[in-house]
Amino acid sequence: MAWQFRGHPVREIHGLPYTIHQFQNGQWQIVIDNCPRHPAGYTFITPMRKPFRRLPSGAARSARLLVTTLARQRKSSIYEIKLFEGQVVSRRARRSWLGRGVMRVNIQMADRMARLPKQFFADLTRRVQAEIEAGRDIINLGQGNPDLPTPPHIVEALREAALDPATHRYGPFRGMAALKEAVAAFYARTYGIDLDPDTEVAILFGGKAGLVEVSEIYLNPGDVALVPDPGYPDYWSGIALAGARMVTLPLTADRSFLPDFEAVADADWQAAKLLFLNYPHNPTGATAPASLYTDLVEQARKHDVWVVHDFAYGAIGYDGIQPPSFLQAPGAKEVGIELYTLSKTYNMAGWRVAFAVGNPDMIAAINLFQDHYYVSLFPAVQRAAIAALTGPQDCVENLRMTYESRRNAFVGALQSLGVHCPPPGGSFFVWMPVPEGFKAVSYADMLLEKAGVAVAPGVGFGACGEGYVRIGLLTSEDRLREAAHRIAAVTR
Ligand SMILES: Cc1ncc(COP(=O)(O)O)c(C=O)c1O
Repeated sequence: MAWQFRGHPVREIHGLPYTIHQFQNGQWQIVIDNCPRHPAGYTFITPMRKPFRRLPSGAARSARLLVTTLARQRKSSIYEIKLFEGQVVSRRARRSWLGRGVMRVNIQMADRMARLPKQFFADLTRRVQAEIEAGRDIINLGQGNPDLPTPPHIVEALREAALDPATHRYGPFRGMAALKEAVAAFYARTYGIDLDPDTEVAILFGGKAGLVEVSEIYLNPGDVALVPDPGYPDYWSGIALAGARMVTLPLTADRSFLPDFEAVADADWQAAKLLFLNYPHNPTGATAPASLYTDLVEQARKHDVWVVHDFAYGAIGYDGIQPPSFLQAPGAKEVGIELYTLSKTYNMAGWRVAFAVGNPDMIAAINLFQDHYYVSLFPAVQRAAIAALTGPQDCVENLRMTYESRRNAFVGALQSLGVHCPPPGGSFFVWMPVPEGFKAVSYADMLLEKAGVAVAPGVGFGACGEGYVRIGLLTSEDRLREAAHRIAAVTR
């Protein structure tokens, strides 16, 4: 039914504002904000059918009564609320109204949902989409979604596996043994690290899920997790769901975006249970020397915290430098895990497959947690992941070279046009300082409006991201060069 509202007077009784609408079909809707029992709002739609020009006096009285009752009755159940003078809504009436769409269920979400961080980039994404739909030529560099296809041999492995009915059943809890062996072989080959596939590898439903799970597993309300600032916002989500507190490790240009562990207050170290780091780093593109991880292991031992190293961009290092794994640091396995996703290395972002490797206690905890959430990944995806990890690896080097070449094209063009923009050492992001007179958001807004280039304002990744925008190298070199020209034209 297409409902149209007529008039939206806002009234107030006992300090509770409420709004009344009349629908075309004559029903009246009463919406009460800040209702004591239903803080996100309470909606009641009258069951009457006859249209009135003004709220009929009976309904007006009902509304007043309803609001008064809600204001006073903090304990009573919704079923006992008087909606009309002398009328108590019975469970039966309510059920029947619910069935007719007259009244809607108004159970609020659990408190933990209200703690989830706001989606900073939602508004920007909407605006970019609206511009594109309006036919404007926007170069969208604001997101981190890999633009290239998954290598054909991996797609073919999925196709073959999907045709095998054996993959149509539930897979083994905790993932296929062959996939965990492939992970161990991949780490041995790439980083020279020995892993026990049974006890030191957990299969994840994408890195994002693993990052949120770890916080839910280890953090109680009031505990502390240390996170990089700027950093990948998904660390915040798990911490918020756990009701824990986040303490930031500021990453600044003068320290090459590496954390200063000595600057963390003693009290925060004492309350800290988890420490998240991520190199090559989203959003700054910074890479870490192996010595950072040696230091990290020492800090973790000293302060008794678990380390979670997010190695999402492990395969993407530039200028001949392979980003080191945290697990290469002596003693790393005693104090933490590394999360590795196939999303970036093999262009498999939509496939949702990743893994955690390292400390057996942490791996056991992740497996236990996942036993309650999932059975296991689609077995065909697991077989395709085995093909990715054990098959030809030239696709990985090709991908890395593609990003390096894009980086050179984009940053080179900006620099030649006189715009200051340091090149990243890894990842597929460029972290560009905004010119004088701008903030991160105002510069990103200006680029979208005047240059038709979408970038992500740095503050969306934390307070230390103020003064920067993040640019994703996720389109062709030609488009990146064009973006650089457009940016330069409105920046100088
Ligand atoms: C730093 C970082 N960590 C983790 C992830 C999660 O990747 P996925 O959930 O696709 O495995 C991403 C994805 O953008 C990321 O940028």
